[in-house]
Amino acid sequence: MPRKILVTSALPYANGSIHLGHLVEYIQTDIWVRFQKMMGNTCYYVCADDTHGTPIMLRAEKEGIAPEQLIDRVWYEHKADFDGFHVEFDHYGSTNSAETKEYSQEIYRKLKAAGLIEVRSVEQFYDPVKNMFLPDRFIKGECPKCHAKDQYGDNCEACGTTYSPTELINPYSVVSGAEPERRNSDHYFFKLSADTCQQFLREWTRSGTLQAEAANKMQEWLGAVGENKLNDWDISRDAPYFGFEIPDAPGKYFYVWLDAPVGYMGSFARLCKSAAGPNFDDYWKQGSDTELYHFIGKDILYFHALFWPAMLQHAGFRTPSKLFAHGFLTVNGEKMSKSRGTFITAESYLKQGLNPEYLRYYYAAKINGTMQDLDLNLDDFVAKVNSDLIGKYVNIASRAAGFITEHFNGELKYSGFDDLTEFKAFDANLSDEVAKLYEAREYSQVIRRIMERADQLNETFNDVKPWLLAKDPSKRNELQQCCSLILHEFKVISVLLAPILPVLSEQVAKCLFGLPEKFIWSDATSLTTKINPYQHLMTRIDPKLIETMIEANKQISEPATDSHSPARHAEAQQDAIAPIGDTISIDDFSKVDLRVAKIVNAEHIEGAEKLLKLTLDIGEAQPRTVFAGIKSVYVPEKLIGRMTVMVANLAPRKMKFGLSEGMVLAASGDAPGLFILSPDDGAQPGMRIK
Ligand code: MSP
Ligand code: ZN
Repeated sequence: MPRKILVTSALPYANGSIHLGHLVEYIQTDIWVRFQKMMGNTCYYVCADDTHGTPIMLRAEKEGIAPEQLIDRVWYEHKADFDGFHVEFDHYGSTNSAETKEYSQEIYRKLKAAGLIEVRSVEQFYDPVKNMFLPDRFIKGECPKCHAKDQYGDNCEACGTTYSPTELINPYSVVSGAEPERRNSDHYFFKLSADTCQQFLREWTRSGTLQAEAANKMQEWLGAVGENKLNDWDISRDAPYFGFEIPDAPGKYFYVWLDAPVGYMGSFARLCKSAAGPNFDDYWKQGSDTELYHFIGKDILYFHALFWPAMLQHAGFRTPSKLFAHGFLTVNGEKMSKSRGTFITAESYLKQGLNPEYLRYYYAAKINGTMQDLDLNLDDFVAKVNSDLIGKYVNIASRAAGFITEHFNGELKYSGFDDLTEFKAFDANLSDEVAKLYEAREYSQVIRRIMERADQLNETFNDVKPWLLAKDPSKRNELQQCCSLILHEFKVISVLLAPILPVLSEQVAKCLFGLPEKFIWSDATSLTTKINPYQHLMTRIDPKLIETMIEANKQISEPATDSHSPARHAEAQQDAIAPIGDTISIDDFSKVDLRVAKIVNAEHIEGAEKLLKLTLDIGEAQPRTVFAGIKSVYVPEKLIGRMTVMVANLAPRKMKFGLSEGMVLAASGDAPGLFILSPDDGAQPGMRIK
C-alpha cells in the first residue's frame, strides 16, 4: 500500500530574498519528497510565502507601495529562486489567501468555543507620531542592566539580559524616533497555560513526534509535571497591521505567527481545488491515517512544537506526525555576513551560472537527521563537487560508455557472470540500505555509501584496463561484460542519487539509457540492455565564479532576514552592518570641523516635504540656520532645547528656502528610521568633536 504523505517546509517571510541558508531547508525537503515519490508513495509538498506582520507593512510603506504589491512581487522572486534550485512544490501559495483566512478564523472560533481564548488588557508602547503600537523589536533604548545604548526592546545585545520594553531607559520608536507612550489595549490570548494544553503537549512530546534534541527542548519549556511553565500566547495585534482581522473583534488582527502555520493548510487547500487534487479532510481531519511532516529550522521549533499542535488538537484537526528540525548554515565557518559577501542570495548563485545541482549535492553530503549546524566551506565546496561528483561519479559513465558504443553498438551483456542472482541481490541490498537512509534524512550517509560504490567501480575499471582489452580481439567478451557491469552499476547509483540530482539523473535516464521517463526507485534493480552514445553530463566548477559571486553579494543592501536570534521572529528583521568605507588618515578626518550644537529653534517650512528649519547655537555671536531632512521622523517642538552635532565648516549651500550653513548628523540603516546624534550630558554648544 503506498503511503499518503503531506510535507511542508517553513514559509519564508515575504520581505527578504531567499538565501543559501534557506536553501538548506528547501533542498533537504525537496530531496525527501522526491525520494517518496520515486518509491511510489503519494506525497504532496506544499509551501507558501509568509506575508503578514509589521515589518512587511512598514517595508511596503517605505517603498511607497501597498503590502499586497510587495508580497506579490516577492512571491515571483521566491518562486523563481525555488524553480532555479529544482525545488518542486506541488503548490506554492501565500498566507494572504482566502483559504488561510478561512482556516485561521475557523481554528480561532473553535478555540474560543473550547474556552481557550481570553481577552486581557495589555499595556504596551505606542508611537504617538506613527499612531501605532510598537512590537518589542521596534523600540530601542538604554539597557536597564548594563546601560548600553540603543538596545532592542526585548533583550540587550551587550549584556544578554532579557526584559520587557517598558523597562528600557529613554525608550524611542525605531519607526519615528519619537518617545513612545504607554497605552492599554485589549489583547486576545490563546490559553496555552490551560491544563488541557499542557497535558496534551506532554503526551505529544513523548509520542515520538520529535527528534531527541527537540524533545529535550520541549521538556525544558514544559517543565516538570505540575509545574505549568507555559504562558498564554498573545495572538492579537492592533490596527494598523497587515494581516487577517479577528472575527467579532474590530481593529484586532491575528498576530502573524497565528496564521503562518495555518498557511500550510491554506496552501494545501488550494491544491485540493485543482483538477484531481487530493481530499483536504484525508490529510487534516482528526484521526486521519495519512502522514504529515513539517521541515523547519531549529529557530522556529517553539512555534511548531508548542503553539501549532495545541491549536490543531483543540480545533479538531490532526496533529503533525513528526517535526523535522535542522540546524543553521554557516559559510566558511562563520555566520553568513553581508560585509564578507557570504550572505549569498539564491539569485546571485544562479546568476553566476553555477549549476544548482552542485549545491544540492554539497548540502546532501552535509545533511543528517539532527539539529546540528552545517557549514558551507567554499573551497571544500569546489573541491568536493569537482573531485566526487564529476571526478568519481560522472567519470564512470564517460569512461565506460565509449567502449560499448564503439565496439558493441551500444549493447550491454551480462552473460559472463556466474551468478546474476547474487549480483541483483547486491543491488537490491544497496538500494534498500540507501532508501532507509533517505527516509531517516541521513543524506550525508547516502552520499558516503554511493561514493564508496563509485570508488569501487573506478577501481574495477582501473584493474580491468578496458583500454588494453579493446586492443585484443580475443578479449571482446570480457571487454563488453566488464563495461556493461560498470554501466549498469552507474545506472544503479544514478537512480539512488536521483532525489539529490533530479536534472542530471533524468538526463542519464533519458539520454544515456534511453528510458522514456525519469528514474523510479525500482529502476535500481532492473538490468538494462542498451545505451545511447555518451553525451557530456556536467562541467567542473570554475572557482572564479565563486569569487565573483562573493563580490556581488557584498553589494547587496537589503535588510538581512537571517539571524540566530529567536527575536527575529518576534516581528522584525535586523539590518546587517553596511561595508565599512575606505581607510582615511587622521589628517583627512580633522578637516571636518564637528561642533556640539544646541537646537534653539526648530520649525516647519511652508511647502517643504522633507525639511525642517533648525536654528543652531554653536557658541558664535549669531546662531546658524540649517535645513535638515528629518521632517518625517521628528516633531519640531521635541527638538527645541536638544543638543546635537553639526558639521560647522561645510560650504554654505543655497537652498530653495534659504541658505543652509552646515549640516546636522543623523544615523540611518535599511529599516525605517533616522536618528540625530546627541552628545553626553555636560557638553556645551561650540565644543569641538575630535
Ligand atoms: N516565516 C517564518 C516561518 C513560518 S512557518 C509557518 C520564518 N521565515 S524565514 O524566512 O525566516 O525562514 C524560513 C526557514 O528557513 C526557517 O525554517 C528557517 O529556520 C530557515 N532558515 C533561515 N535561515 C537559515 C540558515 N541560515 N540556515 C538554515 N536554515 C535557515 O522563519
Ligand atoms: Zn545590557
